Amino acid sequence: MADSVTITDNRTGQSIEVPITDGGVSATEWSKLLPGLWFYDPGFSSTAECESSITYIDGDAGILRYRGYPIEQLAEHSTYLEVAYLLLNGELPTTAELETWEGEIRRHTFIHENMRKRFLDGFHYDAHPMGMLVSEIAALSTFYPAAKRIFDLGQRHEDIVRLIAKTPTLAAAAHRHSAGMPFVYPDNALSFAENFLSMMWKMAEPRYEAHPTLARAIDVLFVLHADHEQNCSTTTMRVVGSAHADPFSACAAAAAALYGPRHGGANEAVLRMLTAIGSIENVPDFVRSVKEGHGRLQGFGHRVYKNYDPRAKIVREIAYQVFEVTGKNPLLDIALKLEEAALADEYFVSRKLYPNVDFYSGLIYQAMGFPVDMFPVLFAIPRTAGWLAHWAEMLDANTKIARPRQLYTGSPERPYVAIGERT
Ligand code: ACO
Repeated sequence: MADSVTITDNRTGQSIEVPITDGGVSATEWSKLLPGLWFYDPGFSSTAECESSITYIDGDAGILRYRGYPIEQLAEHSTYLEVAYLLLNGELPTTAELETWEGEIRRHTFIHENMRKRFLDGFHYDAHPMGMLVSEIAALSTFYPAAKRIFDLGQRHEDIVRLIAKTPTLAAAAHRHSAGMPFVYPDNALSFAENFLSMMWKMAEPRYEAHPTLARAIDVLFVLHADHEQNCSTTTMRVVGSAHADPFSACAAAAAALYGPRHGGANEAVLRMLTAIGSIENVPDFVRSVKEGHGRLQGFGHRVYKNYDPRAKIVREIAYQVFEVTGKNPLLDIALKLEEAALADEYFVSRKLYPNVDFYSGLIYQAMGFPVDMFPVLFAIPRTAGWLAHWAEMLDANTKIARPRQLYTGSPERPYVAIGERT
């Protein structure tokens, strides 16, 4: 049987055979038979926007791999910076390459004093940290105007390093501003995760010593969130990048997409849901109300995964490790009961609704002291690596500017009506 699809235009009787390549068919080939007819696909749910060799997901089997490496192995053995290198370069670094890479990141963690003193201080005291982060990332493009030279590979590399290195500094600065606390400068003797925790929580002590379990938990959560192929924010990065905007502006746009509650805000919704449930006795009633159509079970279900999200399993394990240090988040028992009830219930089983990565991550962040407003910011820090890997891949593929078509449903032509004659 040929690995192809034949389509016939019933208006003309003409047919065209289109080969199936890598699980897809070329819309350009298809369009040769159907010039002027557009593929109607709101939300791109049936459209592959690009070819990519970065991340592989099999949603039915619950598989996630970065550059071929299973997420479980990366979470166990790797670090966020090593994974960022892998995503960007396609291969795991050698010892020397990793040392150079970590050194480069360390050298770029500081932000310009004007960014802190003038730009950040201008935000209102209760500004949302994610709103601040989006603006800060965009503002970086004005500090590094050479970033416009996106096809100068040396320049591109420097700006990739800057973005990965400075995002935690900007994120922590946004938190300190909204908490009314003084800015903490990066401590480049610390690891990536330790340095972030130091910038978040340091008070008067000469050096902030993060608990190793908590620093490792943050690092693993960063590994798990580093990429997830063509999600909304990554698609935004590719679309804005396709206009050849500089990487700071494109990353700011991607972060803006992540700010949306449908994308970066689900773990906050989980916490609200668990708090509203209140105690494990109320779980059966809550599950019943969801089945009757009153709201959704937050942190359950995924557009791609129709199986247990492989990241959720890892996050659940991390939760136990973190709670040994911080004390158990009282909402954990409700979460466990809810998961048990849903996984045994025909409604959720038949719809293939399993816990996703956000079901347990909010519990961890809350137990570690992060305010809920910081949750999307904690997502944006590691996703910067994924956004940049996709951006560079898109540029290297010489992608055309993103410019979809539309199906026009408005008025046909009509003459202009003078204002006094309008009814
Ligand atoms: N609780 C209860 N029912 C659900 C849930 C849920 N969480 N998710 C889906 N369903 C039901 C729908 O009501 C629908 O039932 P029906 O066929 O009887 O109408 C069926 O399952 C299919 O649902 P869709 O909305 O078509 O599934 P889709 O793939 O579009 O949605 C989504 C995926 C948006 C993630 C959804 O499962 C959801 O809203 N989950 C809760 C929010 C959440 O956890 N989001 C985080 C996603 S992970 C991330 O972004 C990092």
